Amino acid sequence: MQKRKMTPLEAGECKRRRKRIRMVTAYDYATASSVNRSEIEIILVGDSLGMVMLGYESTLPVTMDDMVYHLGPVVRGAPDTMIVADMPFLSYHLGVEQALSNAGILMRAGADAVKLEGGAARCPAVRAMIDAGIPVMGHIGLTPQSAAQMGGFKVQGKSASAARRILEDAMALEESGVFAIVLEAVPHELARIVSERLIVPTIGIGAGPDCDGQVLVIHDMLGWFDRFQPKFVKRYANLGREIERALAEYAREVAEGSFPGAEHCFNMKEDELERLVEELE
Ligand code: KIV
Repeated sequence: MQKRKMTPLEAGECKRRRKRIRMVTAYDYATASSVNRSEIEIILVGDSLGMVMLGYESTLPVTMDDMVYHLGPVVRGAPDTMIVADMPFLSYHLGVEQALSNAGILMRAGADAVKLEGGAARCPAVRAMIDAGIPVMGHIGLTPQSAAQMGGFKVQGKSASAARRILEDAMALEESGVFAIVLEAVPHELARIVSERLIVPTIGIGAGPDCDGQVLVIHDMLGWFDRFQPKFVKRYANLGREIERALAEYAREVAEGSFPGAEHCFNMKEDELERLVEELE
């Protein structure tokens, strides 16, 4: 069956039909092309690229320019997949105008929607974007851009009062018009309650099986990023190990002269070679 880009409205339809939404991150053309050939409905060009592509310790150094740079190849590689672009740290905190203008830059670069972190405090920015016709995905629970304030990458919403605040944030975001909400690193019981109370789909990462969809950072799920591995990640491959095996084999073959083999070489026609040799003699 030919894949077709899912729209934000259809994401809501998935929830109503109890069809789970699948989302992964991608930050380059080759990876986006592979995701485009899969059944996965949404690619997130996440600011996690700061850690897995750029080697930073956190997502905070990621800029709008970084986002636009990585969005381009993903858009070209995945024409049949909905593409959500993360709004990076401080690109939407200085007021509604700044938020709207940066969301517009990501949409002009080819995103189908933007995602921003935070709850009720972000609702004015969300409403302005929705008014401008920009689909917005929310992100609450553990919000890595505020990890310093949260005391690190910690599970959120463990106490009844903290859980209640997360539910209230989810409802405020829904009220403001988001089409889906990422719930990161919250107890699965809370994720179930939030998912049951919202009309829009929840997309969980470290939030258990009762969300309306799931998202993983692709480098984590493919075993391609080793700095740390959160408990909620399942490794579906070990690309890091496979890449290192291939590099070791290449290095050995070049050193011993067994690569390139005859099958990797271009040939001259015999008479041309003879003429060359004669000319050189
Ligand atoms: O940046 C990212 O990859 C994310 C996911 C963890 C949801 O926000």
